[in-house]
Order: sequence, then structure tokens, then C-alpha cells
Amino acid sequence: MTTTTERLVDRQVEQVLLEAATRAPSVHNSQPWRFTVGPCRIAVHADPERQLRVADAPGRALLVSCGAAVMNLRVAAEHLGFHPRVRLLPAPDDPTLVAVLEVDHRHPGAGGLGVLYPAVATRRTNRYPFSGRLVPQSVLAEVIEAVDLEHAVLRVYDDQAEVDRVVGLIRAAELDATLTVPAAAAERAHWVGRREPGEGVPAASLGPRAASVRAPFRDLAPDPDPDRERVPFEATPTIAVLSTITDQRADWVRAGMALERALLVLTRAGVSASFMNQPVELPDLRWLLRSPLTGLGQAQMLLRIGYGPPVPPTPRRPLDEVVLRSAEG
Ligand SMILES: Cc1cc2nc3c(=O)[nH]c(=O)nc-3n(C[C@H](O)[C@H](O)[C@H](O)COP(=O)(O)O)c2cc1C
Repeated sequence: MTTTTERLVDRQVEQVLLEAATRAPSVHNSQPWRFTVGPCRIAVHADPERQLRVADAPGRALLVSCGAAVMNLRVAAEHLGFHPRVRLLPAPDDPTLVAVLEVDHRHPGAGGLGVLYPAVATRRTNRYPFSGRLVPQSVLAEVIEAVDLEHAVLRVYDDQAEVDRVVGLIRAAELDATLTVPAAAAERAHWVGRREPGEGVPAASLGPRAASVRAPFRDLAPDPDPDRERVPFEATPTIAVLSTITDQRADWVRAGMALERALLVLTRAGVSASFMNQPVELPDLRWLLRSPLTGLGQAQMLLRIGYGPPVPPTPRRPLDEVVLRSAEG
């Protein structure tokens, strides 16, 4: 690492890095992150004010979201020719400090993750039905490897029996009272379908309702809107479960980095993804998402992947709302 006092993260570099970081997916587009910028580093802090206190009491989705932002920082840094060093949860006395990314002098040419940089801006959560076209094995292999490189595991299911089992878990989660208690419903309504500009999931991003309750679909909408279109979803979707071996806070950050790396690889290959995380939020159902072969792993994210129609981007907060200037910066 450099010992120079030269400012390597100048205003232009800072802008590229933070624009990328804030494009990351986050639970309900809550964007639960803040950043401090120093001459050669950017620190990512979780913003507990934005944690979903009911649906995410342990703060797992909070740290997964921040981990996704860390991945985008790494991708943008490598795009600029840096070889960043990242420390996760480096301060035991400050649990909100998620990661510190440090850079040394730039090298000619982008680093390995740099190829994913264009996908940062074009990645979207796509809640529309996907076509019947299968995702090629070569793409699946690339995504599985990308997740593996981030110390997580991705299992992909496209056989009817296993898909039916997972869809059954999604359905069971939808019926679970925990998700419909007034506090949970109010929390969801706070973020979904309405919000201040710059945050939350806009109504336009919710997509249509599924015509069948057996669809691999999570309707995020807080209210049953009779005017919303009902359409058939793919009967045998490709489903992917992203897991980590253990379930510590560092695993949640790693799961977020692995998730975003997987989503960027998919985006680059023209493949869409959406999330169906309800069973992961309920301990009994989450347990049933473990690998049926090995019985190992802690499910962190449940994804549906395939070929969807184009969808609009979701809004983001302006950078000056999420950047805290550090004393050194
Ligand atoms: C930890 C986490 C959990 C999520 N869970 C869901 C979910 O269960 N259902 C869903 O439709 N989207 C889910 N999302 C996607 C977010 O709603 C989405 O990332 C956010 O609205 C921003 O939109 P974008 O991904 O298109 O940029 C999740 C995202 C993260 C990071």
C-alpha cells in the first residue's frame, strides 16, 4: 500500500466510485449506506436509521445491501486501473463500519473485475415474467464461479421437482402471519409503491401480478390493487439459491458482494434476475432452503433468473446525502 500523502481518490475518482456504489441493489431500495472518503480510501458504513426493524431485525439484509455496494466500489476501482484492498468489518468497536477499500497507484488497463463496470449502470431487478428461453450452461457456470470467488455458493435449480419445492416455500412464506402483522405491513408500505423521490420501490418497478398463486413471484405491493394486470409467469423458472457456509455478520457482507458480482455477470450476459426472499426471512423456511444433497449452507438470497423485458431504473439518493467527509479527506 502507498505511504504517499498524494490524493489518489480525487473528486473525479470519488464521483465514479460512489456513483457505482450507490447503484447497488438494496432491500426495498432503502440504500442503507453512507461513505467516508479519504485521500486513498473509501469506507462504507451501514446506516441503521434505514434498517427494516421488523422484517430485518438482525440486520442481515442491511449488511447484504452494503456488501453489494462494496462490490460495485471494487468493480469501479478496477475499471479505473486500481487494485483495491478491501477489509471487511475492520473495527470491532464500530459495528456500522462495513468495509474499507484502499487504493494504491493506478495501473495501465483495468483490473479483472473492471469488465463488469458497464453492467453496474444497466443492472435492474426485473419483476416481469421471463420468456421460456433457458439460460445457457456457460452463463450459469460463469455465475457459479463468480459467487465461488466471493466465498459463497450458488445452487441453480431448473428441474420441476426442486422448483416446485422452492415455490411451495415461497407460497408458505406469503401465508405466514409474520409477514402480514400490521408492523411489517406498515414498514413495507413505507418503502414500496410510494416514497420520496430518490428512494423506495416505485409502483412502476413492481411489475404485474401473477395470474397463478403457484408462480415464482413475490408481490412487493402493500395493497391489493384490483387494477393491476394479472399475467402468467413462467411455469418452470430457473431458481438460484445463494448461500454461505456460516451465518455471521461477515458472511452477510460477503453474500452481498457475491450477489452483486453474480447479478453483474448475468446483466453482462443479457440475463435478468429478481428476488423472492420471503422464505429467507422466516427461520423455519430458511432452513428448508439448505442444499437437499449436503444439508449444508445458510441461504442468503433466493433469485429467479431468465430473459425479461426491459425495465426502468429505480431512483437513488443524491451523493451529497450519503457522503460524510472524513477528517483526513
Ligand atoms: C438484501 C436484498 C433483499 C431483497 N429482497 C427483495 C425481495 O424479496 N423482493 C423483491 O422484489 N426485491 C428484492 N430486492 C431487490 C430490491 O427491491 C431492489 O434492489 C431495489 O428496489 C433497487 O432496485 P434495482 O435492483 O432495480 O436497482 C432485494 C434486494 C436486496 C439487496
